[in-house]
Amino acid sequence: MAQDDLKRAVAKAAIAYVPDDCIVGVGTGSTANFFIDELAKIKHKVRGAVASSEASAKRLKGHGIEVLSLNEAGDLPVYVDGADEITRHMHMIKGGGGALTREKIVAAASKKFICVCDASKLVDVLGKFPLPIEVIPMARSYVARQLVALGGQPELREGFTTDNGNVILDVHGLQIMNPVELESTLDHIAGVVTNGLFARRAADVLLLGTPEGVKTMTA
Ligand code: A5P
Repeated sequence: MAQDDLKRAVAKAAIAYVPDDCIVGVGTGSTANFFIDELAKIKHKVRGAVASSEASAKRLKGHGIEVLSLNEAGDLPVYVDGADEITRHMHMIKGGGGALTREKIVAAASKKFICVCDASKLVDVLGKFPLPIEVIPMARSYVARQLVALGGQPELREGFTTDNGNVILDVHGLQIMNPVELESTLDHIAGVVTNGLFARRAADVLLLGTPEGVKTMTA
């Protein structure tokens, strides 16, 4: 089964978690795009969406789904998004698409985080996928030195600026045994806007696309 079919299957399954008449939090990336396309099929049943990126906002609007700001919407019942890696404890690495800061904000404001992934994203230990870190541009070198001191090999994502006007350092070579602790440590480096560990606010439900069908997992 092709990876896109697995992504489409989990995106379809996520619709069951969207309550009628709600404003839904929407993530970013190829799996989230499939979810947006599924959401369009039930758009008459939802009030609108809060998007975690300009790209997702554009796709939602393209389908005629109203996009609200998080400030207008308030707390959300549900947030649906993909991940670059996820463990059985529902800890994730996110930010491969560079939208990690807005994703973390919308996830924080949501009661339930439904993570939608194909089976390749499930790992025992986080860190094979380089950990994205959004950094204020003037702090780039300083933050990179702190990341080296922590045992990582940061690499600037060339030619990329986030929706918030910042840069991304992708950190290679980490074996993340304690994601909750590392998430806090990274957040305390001056100049770091957000790191791509989603461990303190982990997913509540993982919908995992496998060739045998969609598996539902919780921590
Ligand atoms: C976007 O910044 C990321 O956090 C995405 O959620 C993540 O990269 C998953 O994307 P795909 O669904 O395209 O794999």
